[in-house]
Amino acid sequence: MQTMQWLADQRALRLIDQTKLPSSEEYLTVTQVDQLVAAIQSLAVRGAPALGASGGYGVAIALAQGEREGWDQARLQNEIDKIRDARPTAVNLAWGVERVRPLVTSGFDAVLAEAHLIADEDRAANETMAKLGADWVQANTSRDKLRVVTHCNTGALATTAIGTAYGVIAELHRRGAIELVYADETRPLLQGARLTSFELTKDGIPHVIEADGAAASTILRGLADFAIIGADRIAANGDTANKIGSVSVALACARAGIPFVVVAPESTVDRNTASGDDVHIEQRDGAEVLSLGGVRTAPDGAEGFNPAFDVTPHDLIAAIVTEARVWEPNAD
Ligand code: MRU
Repeated sequence: MQTMQWLADQRALRLIDQTKLPSSEEYLTVTQVDQLVAAIQSLAVRGAPALGASGGYGVAIALAQGEREGWDQARLQNEIDKIRDARPTAVNLAWGVERVRPLVTSGFDAVLAEAHLIADEDRAANETMAKLGADWVQANTSRDKLRVVTHCNTGALATTAIGTAYGVIAELHRRGAIELVYADETRPLLQGARLTSFELTKDGIPHVIEADGAAASTILRGLADFAIIGADRIAANGDTANKIGSVSVALACARAGIPFVVVAPESTVDRNTASGDDVHIEQRDGAEVLSLGGVRTAPDGAEGFNPAFDVTPHDLIAAIVTEARVWEPNAD
């Protein structure tokens, strides 16, 4: 199963449609900017590092479409902007687009090479973070077999390889050090129940799915040794934006005195964002919280409130693991 693949002969990006998982494995073949924007906004492709790679490939898609349809420079730049702005919180999307955009003047091959480089670097970063993170967790917890809470999906589907936080869990499992993973279901779109559990099952990692509302109690009852999440944007001071519900897990960890760990590539660290107060939190359609699995659960007339992300203040974070460092923002 590959989250994304460039199809050279079609100048197209092949994406697994994550909205259909786990019940069916379907793929989208994206050759147009509007298709990519729709895939990003519907969460067919999602997760910060995967969005970074999609942004890079998106510039190649825009350039190829522009050549086919005879766009001028202004139109091309405008279409590239649409990709950059498709979702606001994960800085990786804009980062991927802006890293590749300057190469447009050098031609399609240069654009594609840079997009491939983003994906290659993400793969390498995943491997390094998995080892660094697993080392840190083992040095900062006391049991041989660890119990861990995770939130949302941070595995292969959210990246181009083994994942960020998920990569650390997989590495600990490889070392024989995982007893049980509590995968939060992650309302409203169930990235934990649908996607993380799908990956944990494929990898044979013991886990249970818990309702988001159960996580704090799991932690306070002493059933977990640490919690680990990915990130969509890490501000210069270490404040971390991630899927809604993450900050509740962090607060419970602080109360219980267990580590709350963030794992993300350096491309997720946004030095231009001073603190979490400056992060643009995506507000999604309220309808997503009024139904479950496509079936409406709320009464007619009820309205939804649907922020897609929250911010965990840096003082609640024991460690931020990137491919370059282990940063303990609480100690700064
Ligand atoms: O709305 P999503 O599914 O794109 O949100 C994704 C998350 O919050 C992930 O935890 C984050 O992007 C890190 S992915 C390695």
